[in-house]
Amino acid sequence: MKLFDVYPLFDIHPVKGEGCYIFDGQGNKYLDLYGGHAVISVGHSHPHFVKKLTIQLQHLGFYSNSLKNDLQIELAKKLGKLSNCEEYNLFLCNSGAEANENALKLASFQNKKTKIIAFKKGFHGRTSAAVSVTDNVKIQAPINKTFETELHNFNEIETIEASLKKGNVCAVIIEGIQGIGGVEIPKPKFLEVLESLCKKYNTILILDEIQSGYGRSGEFFAFQKSTITPDIITIAKGMGNGFPIGGVLIHPKFKAKYGLLGTTFGGNHLACAAGIAVLDILKKENLIAHSKELGNYFLEKLKTVEGISEVRGSGLMIGLEFDFPIKELRKHLLFKEKIFTGSSSNPNVMRVLPPLNIQKEHVDFFIKKLETALKLIPTPSPI
Ligand SMILES: Cc1ncc(COP(=O)(O)O)c(C=O)c1O
Repeated sequence: MKLFDVYPLFDIHPVKGEGCYIFDGQGNKYLDLYGGHAVISVGHSHPHFVKKLTIQLQHLGFYSNSLKNDLQIELAKKLGKLSNCEEYNLFLCNSGAEANENALKLASFQNKKTKIIAFKKGFHGRTSAAVSVTDNVKIQAPINKTFETELHNFNEIETIEASLKKGNVCAVIIEGIQGIGGVEIPKPKFLEVLESLCKKYNTILILDEIQSGYGRSGEFFAFQKSTITPDIITIAKGMGNGFPIGGVLIHPKFKAKYGLLGTTFGGNHLACAAGIAVLDILKKENLIAHSKELGNYFLEKLKTVEGISEVRGSGLMIGLEFDFPIKELRKHLLFKEKIFTGSSSNPNVMRVLPPLNIQKEHVDFFIKKLETALKLIPTPSPI
């Protein structure tokens, strides 16, 4: 059997990870400033993470959600505390798309409405409702286009209110910081107005913190730079440091009912051990404050580099906009300098999403290599 060929692949075969580094089978060492797409939060193969998972697997890897699972309770408790969202309830699932799918479903159960407002350049996953509110028609099959959706620009309050006023909008979904869209940050004031409009028109506000959450932005959640209290918050990626786990944080105004949501694998014992290990490490190593501090250092350093048109970001979620497509620059950094970086839906924007325990020396190393690369690679003139 062959693989269903859907991913354009770099010819690199990683076999080992350690902290901020990846090693291939030939012994090459790569600095990972991509974190496997913002997934690696506490670093590759962190000893506490490995130990927790190993011990858990020796005891019990999985049993179904028909029995009590104390690990889920421990995970929820620790997550509530560290994120300062103790009043929310947690539903555990397996991925980001699944978290958003459940969030949208829950919103619709709550107010019985069907239309969803999302934002241009946004990404919310590849499953049915989640992809229908993603700004990329190329990944929407005809079946996904049956949802009632509307995409708006950030800050265009009047058009958003005009739509909400019609009374049929079930939910507004917005990323804490747009990731794939190229690190676009909604202003706190915009989020605050959005929250008040959602309240006014009985619409559920869903914060997709799948990429921007878990300390990546320098706060536990990116929206915490504002004063809002979202109705629903979705999480995944950094939550499991590579172990597939997702979650939905649900405001207490939603009442749970047996069978309302469900999953076979979500919240299994091994996944919970991974989730707990991540929270333990984030807390013990103070990685959220570290993300903010290193992020500020990184942003300041990047602003001194000639040849970048715009640097934007928060914590360790950083976008570098150039006035040329970055494809060759990324390839140069990867194959010549052995540094992983990320792309975005904007061909001119590079994303930097390192493990949260990155150090200043890694930042300095990248800056030096980026400066050299910008002098070496032929930069096509802007189109
Ligand atoms: C903001 C955001 N939401 C949702 C998703 C979907 O997550 P998953 O790939 O785990 O389904 C992603 C993945 O990149 C994302 O960045």
